[in-house]
Amino acid sequence: MNIDFAVNFIKYYGAAMVANAMPVLIKNGTPMDRGLIWIDNKRLLGNGKTWEGFTIGVIGSYLASMAISIFFDDHILFFKLWLASIAGLLGDIIESFFKRRLGIKRGEPLPVFDQLDFAIAATIIYHLMGELNIFKDSWFIILSFTLIIALHLVTNSIAYILRLKDKPW
Ligand code: CTP
Ligand code: MG
Repeated sequence: MNIDFAVNFIKYYGAAMVANAMPVLIKNGTPMDRGLIWIDNKRLLGNGKTWEGFTIGVIGSYLASMAISIFFDDHILFFKLWLASIAGLLGDIIESFFKRRLGIKRGEPLPVFDQLDFAIAATIIYHLMGELNIFKDSWFIILSFTLIIALHLVTNSIAYILRLKDKPW
């Protein structure tokens, strides 16, 4: 792997990946939608989006953004990474909203979007902040998204084999 790519991948997606992995530790938290049913008779978000999960994600992203910005010796980077990571957590929530509208039950897969929800949201924020440009940096972004999907497949398979997860996706 190209060293520049590896460094930039960790710089831009490291904290967001940590933030996104943290909520998995919460099994039965308080649903953000409080059980609310949307006009289509389906849950607004479902039981997979909890306040506890969101909170632990915000805390995790704070620590990861701190660590990465210290490593790159860049104070401003901390705020950018934390903001992008929180956007990532919100992206995951928005994805659940659309999954429910499509009639996909909580925990059932929506391939590619399940893996990239947070990364897409973080990338939009980087673009708006002028940190990444979705046109000029398209190769970096495509390569990063591909790596994120691959990492998901590997970690989820391991978690399934170790019986930490009951579904292999
Ligand atoms: N989680 C949480 N709160 C959040 C996000 C995630 O508690 N805000 C936890 C839930 O236990 C969830 C797990 O992290 O089951 C994995 O998240 P995700 O894969 O996004 O949820 P799914 O269970 O697949 O639900 P959905 O179909 O809504 O994506
Ligand atoms: Mg999701």
